[in-house]
Amino acid sequence: MMTAVRGMRDFLPEDAWRLHRLEQAAREVFSRYGFHEIRTPLLEWSELFTRAVGETTDIVEKEMYTFPDRKGKSLSLRPEGTASVVRAFINHGQGQRLPWRVWYRGPMFRYERPQEGRSRQFHQIGCEEFGAAGPLADAQVIAMAMHFLAGIGLGNRLDLEINTLGCPDCRAPYRERLADKLRAHAAALCDNCQQRLARNPLRVLDCKIPGCRVVAERAPHAREHLCAACAEHFSGLEAYLGALDLAWRYNPLMVRGLDYYTRTVFEITTQELGAQNAVAAGGRYDGLVAAMGGRPTPAVGFAMGMERLMALVGTMAGGIAPPDFFLAAVGVEAQAPGLILAERLRAAGRVVEMSQEGGSMKNVMKQAGRSGAPVALILGPDEVAARQVMVKEMASGAQRSVAWDEMLT
Ligand code: HAM
Repeated sequence: MMTAVRGMRDFLPEDAWRLHRLEQAAREVFSRYGFHEIRTPLLEWSELFTRAVGETTDIVEKEMYTFPDRKGKSLSLRPEGTASVVRAFINHGQGQRLPWRVWYRGPMFRYERPQEGRSRQFHQIGCEEFGAAGPLADAQVIAMAMHFLAGIGLGNRLDLEINTLGCPDCRAPYRERLADKLRAHAAALCDNCQQRLARNPLRVLDCKIPGCRVVAERAPHAREHLCAACAEHFSGLEAYLGALDLAWRYNPLMVRGLDYYTRTVFEITTQELGAQNAVAAGGRYDGLVAAMGGRPTPAVGFAMGMERLMALVGTMAGGIAPPDFFLAAVGVEAQAPGLILAERLRAAGRVVEMSQEGGSMKNVMKQAGRSGAPVALILGPDEVAARQVMVKEMASGAQRSVAWDEMLT
């Protein structure tokens, strides 16, 4: 039996309905903040991600689905949305009025080890704002994420964690200092972190392995080594979050797995999903547009993992509704008029399911019962001859004849 690819799952109609409900809720909230939807391709030149996400990140080193196209050019399935949106901004957005605010949704692909809450195809809803340099934009984007999450009932089940990573000016000396400190405890670090020491020492800070955590907890924090402008940005953000009364926690060990961040980074986490505890994450990336060849433009954004949100939200009221009517057509002569009647009712906005061809009265009524429709419209040879339909209330069994024309008014 052929199965789905490991780490990729089907969204059966009930799941797709829930995903859609969440996307709809996001659309409504995000539009109140001036964000509009953008759709970018699922496939991009591999180089886009190598350059934007960072060559030494796990995503680029180990997790991309990369393959040559028929001309031998390297393509990758998108592992995240920010790089594509930055490309689209450079390609089309730079002439537009700033700030340029967009949101997106859709599948992302990472070749990670699948486990609860982590899959190889997963869905994100994300948003990116270009052109606002101050901490007000960070505060507003964070507030928007929290607003959406509160609206889907998760308000008090989540924690907001924030850190600052500084800018290239203050990060370079901090990185050196951090690497020196970590090197002094290199023997206590896991193999992976020993490698990171030379290439990406900041990543050691968020390693989950206990030995590394002990070392990380005693390491210097980026916040203590910020330049004046970055320090001012962070205290500005603190003031705005305070003004909004948003509860948050400073997490000096959060560095994020993507290299493009500057200054603010944040994660929204839950204690209910085990190891994969981040439901949303993002931050500022003021250098990325220029690094990708655009005019220097500050930017900030975040993305949420929809499968994790769906797991937290659980069952949702509503779901896929049964049809308004089940059109039970009995006998050959009833099929074409039944088809026409069903089409007309649908054109009038009603949800209609029609019986399978060739069923007896008993059989089509069984189908009607299974459909969950509250009302069956029965069309047998007598009804066709009289241009009528028998309207049967399924719960009470009460029925009455109604003329076709009347049915449609
Ligand atoms: P990220 O932290 O890599 O950031 O992913 C954002 C969210 O996507 C995570 O917090 C998690 O909920 C979900 N996620 C990530 N990987 C998986 C997976 N394998 N399975 C299930 N869910 C997953 C980004 O992608 C950045 N582009 C966010 C951003 C936007 N930063 C600025 N703008």
